Amino acid sequence: MIDQQTIEQALDQALDGVDLPFLGERTRGKVRDIYRHDDQLILITTDRLSAFDRILGLVPFKGQVLNQLAAFWFEETRDIIGNHLIATPDPNVTVAQACEPLPVEVIVRGYISGVTKTALWYQYSQGKRTIYGMDFPDGLSKNDPLPEPIITPTTKATDGGHDERITSAQVVEMGLVEPARWEQICQAALAVFARGQAIARQAGLILVDTKYEFGVTPAGETVLIDEVHTPDSSRFWIAETYESRRAAGQEPENFDKEFIRLYYAAHGYRGDGDPFPLPPELAVQAAQRYIGAYERLTGREFQPGETPAAERIERNLRAWVDDKVTG
Ligand SMILES: Nc1ncnc2c1ncn2[C@@H]1O[C@H](COP(=O)(O)OP(=O)(O)OP(=O)(O)O)[C@@H](O)[C@H]1O
Ligand SMILES: [Mg+2]
Repeated sequence: MIDQQTIEQALDQALDGVDLPFLGERTRGKVRDIYRHDDQLILITTDRLSAFDRILGLVPFKGQVLNQLAAFWFEETRDIIGNHLIATPDPNVTVAQACEPLPVEVIVRGYISGVTKTALWYQYSQGKRTIYGMDFPDGLSKNDPLPEPIITPTTKATDGGHDERITSAQVVEMGLVEPARWEQICQAALAVFARGQAIARQAGLILVDTKYEFGVTPAGETVLIDEVHTPDSSRFWIAETYESRRAAGQEPENFDKEFIRLYYAAHGYRGDGDPFPLPPELAVQAAQRYIGAYERLTGREFQPGETPAAERIERNLRAWVDDKVTG
């Protein structure tokens, strides 16, 4: 694994964003800068770290890790369901098929956990046994595996709004997704999740829960879009210490960006007003986690792309556009 000093030196080179007018008009998500090129999307994953629905700061190599990890998972799950990935002309860039995104976030949970009042565990601990329109058995303890993974959809909020929790039945009743397509999505989501859990296990990690997005291609096919099983879209626990910590009544050791939220909460920030900027030590730790997750899950060594990333990305995308034009 790349040493701490290399990460520290990369702090002020972290990728805030790109400005590539030759690709047309840019749109910005919290983490990705996006250009549309004919029927394709150019998704540039930056080093921006978001939590509490805000950008806290930059984490060196995070964009590359997310982009390459998502590409790994798209390959590993292609036999279950098709996806939007066309090419990765740069370590931070995915060229994807532009789809009509379905207005639901498909959240799959393998464990009963969470701390907030809307979380599964909180409601269960208050004695509720029907939660999110689903029945749960007695006798579960916090952070236990669920009898089988469940799907808890939310609406996908448009600008500024918050995602609303809905039941599977409501997805169809509200007309967000046609019944047959929703059925297909649920099956695919559970199968992709099972694949993810199996691969994570071999890597010594537990895939706890995750969020998928699906889109519809111009030909009407349902495909997996956005990102899959990254530390931004998923929670991971360390498998090795899970049982002993659970037996001792301790929280599992997390291996995602939960420690950032915990750090902010411990320093008095819980999502109201402007967050303090991400401290450099925390950015370094976050980079180590993201890279560690990539290396464990893929079994590959992380090879940092040439810096400054913005210049490299521009070079690679100019070459890619030229290639497309000349065929
Ligand atoms: N193949 C695709 N076709 C259409 N849209 C896509 C595709 N893949 C990803 N997207 C969309 O592109 C965006 C990715 O950017 P990013 O991850 O930065 O956004 P976000 O912060 O998660 O969401 P937001 O849109 O709320 O800013 C998401 O809105 C996602 O739904
Ligand atoms: Mg996103």
